[in-house]
Amino acid sequence: MTMTQRFFLKTEILFGDGLYDRLEVFRGRRIGIVTDGFMVRSGMVGRLQGKLPPCELAVFAEVVPEPPVDGIAKGARVLAEFRPDAVVALGGGSVIDAAKAMLATLREMGGPDIVLVAVPTTSGTGSEVTCYAVISEPERGIKHPLRSPEMVPDLALLDPDLVASVPPAVTADTGMDVITHALEAYVATGATDFSDAFAEKALSLAFAKLPAAYADGGDRAARAALHNASCMAGMAFNAAGLGLNHGLAHAIGGRFHLPHGRINAMLLPLVVDYNAGTQDGFGPGLPAAERYAEIARRVGLEASTARGGAKALARAIARMNDRFGIPATLRAAGTDMDDYARAQDQLVEAALADACTASNPRTPTAGEVAGLIRAVGG
Ligand SMILES: [Fe+2]
Repeated sequence: MTMTQRFFLKTEILFGDGLYDRLEVFRGRRIGIVTDGFMVRSGMVGRLQGKLPPCELAVFAEVVPEPPVDGIAKGARVLAEFRPDAVVALGGGSVIDAAKAMLATLREMGGPDIVLVAVPTTSGTGSEVTCYAVISEPERGIKHPLRSPEMVPDLALLDPDLVASVPPAVTADTGMDVITHALEAYVATGATDFSDAFAEKALSLAFAKLPAAYADGGDRAARAALHNASCMAGMAFNAAGLGLNHGLAHAIGGRFHLPHGRINAMLLPLVVDYNAGTQDGFGPGLPAAERYAEIARRVGLEASTARGGAKALARAIARMNDRFGIPATLRAAGTDMDDYARAQDQLVEAALADACTASNPRTPTAGEVAGLIRAVGG
């Protein structure tokens, strides 16, 4: 069966110098800033305001990590009252996701079109170019990846100065999220030549520059490369989909509240092994093994066979985690293991039901998912 495939780019991406000049079109109009308390306290909101043209301004700074449904509703009410022409989302993935969900809520209420400008302050989620927003229901301990083409931001401003002060641990967590995005997109069932191009470049940049940005946050060239890599990885997975790694990360992270990138990083060597079919035995591996081997070669690892390449890639990721102080297991991360064992059935169910899992190259059984959950538990 043949089918039409599609690669769609909506977001205008600005990088380099003078990128805030693009916002001149909102001179004298109404701009709503969606952000969080840290961005206000650290002076980032003030700095952004200094770069905006004279305009009517409202700031909603109440976004919290893993934005909950009721916080989205509150932000949407504030914006509905203010009636902005544009919303600038200044922050990490949670802030950009929250702004996307707020504007989706306003659209559902029949409000006018509002230009969404995403200004990421971490190099991680790629949310500035994707149609996804992860919203949580804390009382039920679950995360929902919402998906709608309408949520894709109109404009993304990639300003590496905004990530200069991100601490090393967050640089590592978010950087490993970039690697997970690109790698999952590369082996996803929806991968095409077009998504591959972005995934490959994102992986080359991230493998080369993440250690440098971790070691020296002031390395502006490394920061800029990672910021671009994060955006490109977002373009790749927005088109190709993600996979079981994110399905598991949403399930486990929804309940045990580890940083999203960190739980992805902990899972990634295990999921690469699982997808490649190289956990045990000496067979040639599954089709994904060859794809992983291509990436292994691209980032300079020895990969004369598909199996060897997939193994080398999984090991390289585990070594990076180790170097970045990312624990290998939840036990080592301090998770209550009795709680974790009790949650296993729910985690399996949530991971299998997660929308990301559907585009994984290997269709997992409940038993296989349980095995991965136990393995990352330690
Ligand atoms: Fe992610």
